[in-house]
Amino acid sequence: MNYRVEVFTGIRPTRDLTIANYLGAVKPVVKLQNQGFSTMVFVADLHALTDNEPSLVKKYIPEIVADYIAFGLDPSKTKIYLQSDLVSEISVFTLLLSRQINVAELLRVPTLKDKLKKKDQPETANVLLFLYPVMMAADILLNRAQKIPVGEDQIPHLEMVRELGRRFNKKYGNILPLPEVLQIKSYRILSLKGEGKMSKTNPQGAIFLTDDLKIISRKVKMAETAFEGVMNEKLESHILIAKELAKTEKERQEIEFLVKEHKAKKRVMKRFKELFNQIIQDFLKEFQIKRKKIIQNPSYISRVLKEGALIAKKNAQETLEGVRRVFEA
Ligand code: TYM
Repeated sequence: MNYRVEVFTGIRPTRDLTIANYLGAVKPVVKLQNQGFSTMVFVADLHALTDNEPSLVKKYIPEIVADYIAFGLDPSKTKIYLQSDLVSEISVFTLLLSRQINVAELLRVPTLKDKLKKKDQPETANVLLFLYPVMMAADILLNRAQKIPVGEDQIPHLEMVRELGRRFNKKYGNILPLPEVLQIKSYRILSLKGEGKMSKTNPQGAIFLTDDLKIISRKVKMAETAFEGVMNEKLESHILIAKELAKTEKERQEIEFLVKEHKAKKRVMKRFKELFNQIIQDFLKEFQIKRKKIIQNPSYISRVLKEGALIAKKNAQETLEGVRRVFEA
């Protein structure tokens, strides 16, 4: 019997994860893990090769494992594995799945279109960039994962994963369960300065998990809000971050109160920013202490990944067995 994966997600091991990565992808898994769902996450080191050299990717693998655990994922409940430990299964399945899609469809994927507009061109972009969503399909479908929490930017990829699964099933019989996107809210965390989504490409507007607490204060001070009585996308995003990271009911109530006052044209943004800063600081202080302890224990990290890989590999091999059977029939 394979390990049933009800909730599943992955993060690429690159430098500078932000709180947006946590809120978009990891927090929902922590919550469902604690409710008793069967959960699994992985470190997407093969996906990270789209823009990074292998040696650099390798360096950040233990850090992502430490991040996952410090965020509250408990390896005795949530399986954590390294994507490249399944490299042969993923490669075969990516090849098989890529037969189900044409180049024009891949070129319409919004994240790819965006990249081709801003940075690369079809003449220079590496092929792994095109295969990105197909490889995501391999991760998810090999594990027969059900619910996938991700940030809003990944939704087009998940639609493609479902479409690939659907086409495969139509041709070869109903053998791949289709995953669902899990978005409790619309998770598009914006840059503190409001220029697009929070990401490492706008460092002044991003709260990095490893940011020094003094730097965070400075960034929050510079955050853009809105005139009294006005709500905008930026402020909504700050409010979402504050509510999601708040540790106490009292803090959440104060946020609600300040939002109400702001809407009633009272001048409360100074207090809101103080509270916002305090909430982020409290969250990251605790997180950074836990993370440091885990990173100092590499044998624990290897053990966690080894155990996760055993389970994910078993899942992948069972799925591939089923696929091979229909091909041979
Ligand atoms: P990565 O590492 O780029 O992003 C990890 C997660 O962080 C979310 N995220 C955000 N959410 C809200 N607001 C933001 N500003 C923001 N920025 C990033 C992303 O949506 C993502 O959920 N392709 C995946 C990795 C992956 C994967 C998979 C995920 C590979 N295979 C299979 C799920 C299932 C990615 O974007 O990683």
